Amino acid sequence: MGPEEKKEVVMESAVFEKYESNVRSYCRKYPVVFSKAKGSLLFDQNGNEYIDFLCGAGSCNYGHNNDYIKGKVIEYLQNDGLIHGLDMYSVAKGEFIECLQNSVLIPRGYDYKVLFPGPTGTNSVEVALKIARKVKGRSNILALMGGFHGMSLGSLALTTERTARDACGVALGNVTHVPHPSMMKNFDTIEYIDMLLTDDHSGVDKPAAIIVEAVQGEGGINILSNEWLIRIRELCDKHDMLLILDDIQTGCCRTGGFFSFERAGIKPDIVVMAKSIGGMGLPCAITLVKPEYDVLLPGEHNGTFRGFQPAFVAGKAAIELMLRDNLEAESVRKGKIIEEFLANRLPAIDGRLTYRGLGVMWGIDCGEMPTGTSQNIRKLCFENGLILELSGREDTVIKIMPPVTVPDGILMQGLEILMKAIAEEINTTKNASIIAQLGSVKDTC
Ligand SMILES: Cc1ncc(COP(=O)(O)O)c(C=O)c1O
Repeated sequence: MGPEEKKEVVMESAVFEKYESNVRSYCRKYPVVFSKAKGSLLFDQNGNEYIDFLCGAGSCNYGHNNDYIKGKVIEYLQNDGLIHGLDMYSVAKGEFIECLQNSVLIPRGYDYKVLFPGPTGTNSVEVALKIARKVKGRSNILALMGGFHGMSLGSLALTTERTARDACGVALGNVTHVPHPSMMKNFDTIEYIDMLLTDDHSGVDKPAAIIVEAVQGEGGINILSNEWLIRIRELCDKHDMLLILDDIQTGCCRTGGFFSFERAGIKPDIVVMAKSIGGMGLPCAITLVKPEYDVLLPGEHNGTFRGFQPAFVAGKAAIELMLRDNLEAESVRKGKIIEEFLANRLPAIDGRLTYRGLGVMWGIDCGEMPTGTSQNIRKLCFENGLILELSGREDTVIKIMPPVTVPDGILMQGLEILMKAIAEEINTTKNASIIAQLGSVKDTC
């Protein structure tokens, strides 16, 4: 959009400040009013353009308003397709289930029932916990430190972020947290969990399940290796507990394959998915459950919005698009572009910056840098037309999460804005410390 097309402000941000709850958060970091989105770009109401490396926190993996997906939804709406269906049988839901089974699950050798838990990630996690506890008749669940699994009470008990836990006002229990392997490089976390579950003096109640993210999203892009995933699968079998894989942020080609765990060749007992499973940012979640664990009786889990039909239409179209455009390979290819770019450019800026990632999910770790570095970089990026988020302890990890469909040119443009912001922030900090040192030299003269 050229400057001549810029529009007048139609919505003042004061509306939100005056009437919306204080709990709002993303908007504080990107304080403009958005009105449009296309592909990898967001537009504010004044026509300013932003490259989107946040992607609705992983909900828009196929880009904004993707023509193919949107076309299918528009066609459905124009034909007066059912919108709200509770959990009744519908053509849209049936076609989505068939497409998921026939085009994704069955060809890959996965045998899962599809459960619709309510349209958010935390709903899917809650039902997975319910199932595991019912199957095993035990309440304890193992979860990894740094994990994020949602904000409702059961999911929050798994989530480790202190502020979120403190806000809930009740004790969060029935979960034992164990270290993520990235936290202790020379410590065998699998051996540790094995010991906890073997030693009858460990003080840990036998769990019904362990829940893991193959790559921790909010936790700071911490990757579980293929070897670790294989070993935890074996450990689950050894100790009679279920393996729940949280693919809410990492699914739908985000880390390469449609599922984040395919690279390890494992089969979790339950897979929780949401975000991009709704195709174009429409609310949808599913819980994939091995048939032998499909134990909930009719109505034991329920919810009014488990049948948002346009999301089923979009979800099916997204699977078709993924297969048509080979988006799994695209995710891997773009991952290589990002990795090569970071390898070439970051060390020259500052050797303390490290990076890690898979597919189109990368993190730049500013943990060794002065406090506030990552926050300042995010701000500079925004001022220069790039939207991205932070994650990890103290928000020190800069997340790079473009859509899988991002054109190479826009990807490079976004990465360049990011590098410029990092260099600017680090030079400013260095200059400030040189000036401070000069000041102290002067003081002592
Ligand atoms: C890994 C993971 N699990 C669960 C959730 C919760 O999903 P929702 O916000 O849709 O409840 C999120 C959200 O960011 C997530 O990243």
